[in-house]
Amino acid sequence: MNTTIPHSGIAAVDRYIVDGYASVPGMSSHFAAAITCGLMRIQTAAGVTGPVVEVGAFEGRFLIALAKSLAPGEIVLGIDLFDWPNPEVEGRCIANCARHGVLEEARIIWKTDSRKLTPEALLAKLGGRRPRLQHIDGEHSREALSNDLELATAVMSDAGLIVLDDMLHPGYPTLMVAVHAYLERHAEMCVLAIIDRETIVAATKFVLCRKEWFKRYEDALLADYKDNVWPLGADFEPHWCLVLSLDTRLAAIT
Ligand SMILES: C[S@@+](CC[C@H](N)C(=O)[O-])C[C@H]1O[C@@H](n2cnc3c(N)ncnc32)[C@H](O)[C@@H]1O
Repeated sequence: MNTTIPHSGIAAVDRYIVDGYASVPGMSSHFAAAITCGLMRIQTAAGVTGPVVEVGAFEGRFLIALAKSLAPGEIVLGIDLFDWPNPEVEGRCIANCARHGVLEEARIIWKTDSRKLTPEALLAKLGGRRPRLQHIDGEHSREALSNDLELATAVMSDAGLIVLDDMLHPGYPTLMVAVHAYLERHAEMCVLAIIDRETIVAATKFVLCRKEWFKRYEDALLADYKDNVWPLGADFEPHWCLVLSLDTRLAAIT
């Protein structure tokens, strides 16, 4: 089994993943950060621009990686209730961003409830710019994920990516119900790739995009991360997508 975390291809991110990521409390995996930031590199190379949003910033672990992947002039917006496990978590998120070199002008930390946000309010906070990538890692109920998905879809740019945390997690089985219902409501959307788990805490993420962007992103992922492609892929009946994993073995058959 190959446990080497691939590079995002952005030097500052790759240094942070090795030297800083584990020091910031959080739940997202090193592997997911590398692939998600690699996707931001792919977007920048393709001329896709815009801000980045995270719902569920917590202490900033994943947010900092996203911030280090921005092109000049772009911003990251971190949304959280910032009430768990205590109200000081907002200050810790801001301090972690500063400690890891995220410039104040490149980030907005917003203490708010994503369930109460309208697309207009979110876009206003982003200066009217539609996000190119959104990481949804807030409340893990079926209803809250459905709301967060609808909000993200309403504001995303044409080439936008939506990254969903804790998919296929044994502790959150209803999230998959929300995702499948969402995909039925939104025929224009599909799952671009599945980023496999590292541990039960650092769980699987799905990456979603508009169908018209699927091939371009998939070709770029195949070119850059071929060593992490699990050969059988994922079947969304009838749509298929890549499974990216640190463990690409198949079952041994005699
Ligand atoms: C699992 S943690 C996020 C971990 C972080 N994204 C990481 O990768 O390390 C989930 C966060 O979602 C936040 N949250 C839960 N419900 C929310 C809501 N309705 N609006 C905004 N944030 C919410 C919680 O306060 C918590 O900090």
